[in-house]
Amino acid sequence: MKIALGNDHAGFVLRDAVLRFLHSRNIEVLDLGAFEYDKEDSYADPAFRVGGAIADETADLGVLLCGTGYGISIAANKVPGVRAVACSSPDNAKIAKAHNGINVIALGGRETKPEEVADILAAWLDTPFEGGRHLQRIENIAKVEKANLNLHIQGGGKITIFNHPLIQHKVGIIRSVDTSVKQFRELLNEITGLMVYEITRTLPLTEKEITTPIQKTTVHTIEGRKMAIIPVLRAGLGMVDGILQIVPNCKVGHIGLYRDEKTLKPVEYYCKLPFDIEERDIFVLDPMLATGGSSSAAIELVKKRGGKKISLVCLIAAPEGIDRVHADHPDVNIFSAALDSHLNEHGYIVPGLGDAGDRLFGTK
Ligand code: RB5
Repeated sequence: MKIALGNDHAGFVLRDAVLRFLHSRNIEVLDLGAFEYDKEDSYADPAFRVGGAIADETADLGVLLCGTGYGISIAANKVPGVRAVACSSPDNAKIAKAHNGINVIALGGRETKPEEVADILAAWLDTPFEGGRHLQRIENIAKVEKANLNLHIQGGGKITIFNHPLIQHKVGIIRSVDTSVKQFRELLNEITGLMVYEITRTLPLTEKEITTPIQKTTVHTIEGRKMAIIPVLRAGLGMVDGILQIVPNCKVGHIGLYRDEKTLKPVEYYCKLPFDIEERDIFVLDPMLATGGSSSAAIELVKKRGGKKISLVCLIAAPEGIDRVHADHPDVNIFSAALDSHLNEHGYIVPGLGDAGDRLFGTK
């Protein structure tokens, strides 16, 4: 096992005690400093060095030291995959490991005495992670982390998951096996309608002069050739009215794809797009982003016909589908009402809602 160590000036005072303990256990140490006391240094730098070592697997675990353990753990937790908590007693360390599976422990040079370090670190290392319900929670956090990661660092290809209570409430109902075809249809449109405010947030505005009953004034209006929505047949049709209710002038294209039974690849059987598609903000509608194969093929088709500014709007997305679309189309933003856990062996999203087309049209 290898443990990375990092500290700022206020954690400097605990360095020796940490090193002594780790050496006493014959644990390999990746010492990432700071090696000198510099009152001006920032706890964020060692946090990112140690976090980086965890993320790229050059270390298995990390120990961070600052004045309180607080700032350095906040910074370390920004690195994907890091679970850092500040601990000031063996009991803290035990619970943080057993329940939260922390892979980085932070100690405070102003909170903890050097002679207390060994007991805290021993409690952390010797306590097993309990797993079970605690594992589910960690996995949940990791999912959100992944979604945010895409949101912030995938140049252009961002993913927005909606956490609005109304959307979550309606997604909860639409998933249920007891929801009727009529309710399903209504809910899909309602949820899509609620998503419109966010998916259209970056539409460009221009100014124009108008006259109110009181005086002339300048107002904002959406610029240029505006929007086009393109449902992927057939489930995407269920999202069209929800958008048209809010943006009634938006143009509608259609794309039909089927999956070739031999090659399992999506094959186009219908494609009719607005003639000026290259000038529009395009929203491809595909409720279930499962493997991402058909969404990616639909986007490809739109691009071939000249589409440039393209987003994908879904009801439920699986991480596999998000990865596929972003790998094929890093310039495409994805909006999804919900992010689910994974795909099952039949390619269905888990927990998902089954086949959206069948549920929308009552064909099963
Ligand atoms: C540095 O003076 C101190 O603020 C820092 O080490 C840490 O305690 C922050 O949380």
